[in-house]
Amino acid sequence: MTRLLAPSILSADFSNLSQQIRYVEMGGADVIHCDVMDGKFVPNITFGPIVVKAIRQVTKLPIDVHLMIKEPEKYIADFVEAGANFVSVHVEEVVHLDRVINTIKDLGCKAGAALNPATPLVLLENILPSLNFVLLMSVNPGFGGQRFITGSLNKIRKLNEMRKISNLEFLIEVDGGIGAKNIKNLINAGCDIFVAGSSIFGQDNVTAACAELKNFLRD
Ligand code: DX5
Ligand code: ZN
Repeated sequence: MTRLLAPSILSADFSNLSQQIRYVEMGGADVIHCDVMDGKFVPNITFGPIVVKAIRQVTKLPIDVHLMIKEPEKYIADFVEAGANFVSVHVEEVVHLDRVINTIKDLGCKAGAALNPATPLVLLENILPSLNFVLLMSVNPGFGGQRFITGSLNKIRKLNEMRKISNLEFLIEVDGGIGAKNIKNLINAGCDIFVAGSSIFGQDNVTAACAELKNFLRD
């Protein structure tokens, strides 16, 4: 199984984003993770499709758009047009999840459902066969640099079991508090896509920090 490292630009130096992206490309990043926040679904505001479009112009890596916003269905087409390749929406927010997941896929993207730490996996039971990936939050969404919630490991293991039992192929993405100290535990629990913000962009040598994490993911 391929494991993917997805640096989150939330902790990057936005005054020189193209340089920051070059740094993680040199460090072996597989995906660029973009955290979109609206100050309503989460208590913080970040950026919208304009920034995703700018990133698209400076990298060929897949762009993973994590929508932490109210009514994400209204903005999906804009993010796809801007260059998104993966789009995830939060199950806590979307009433007609099946419809929204199909919309994302019809627009040519990988579709994911995101879960907050307190949201149970059982909510995914009937939608799992339609998903390309599940994003498990391992911190409460809204900010970078928070501590990994250790209970998330059990949740990853449980989702991995559900995947095996149902013979499904969706990827498991884990987001929040990931670094060199816990990445091995996440690999063992069944994670496929590792989002890391502050442990990469918060470090003095961004390329080296990225390469260090990437090394854990090689077979
Ligand atoms: C939090 C975001 C994460 C965040 C991760 O709401 O979804 O992607 O950037 O940052 P770290 O790795 O610093 O926890
Ligand atoms: Zn995220």
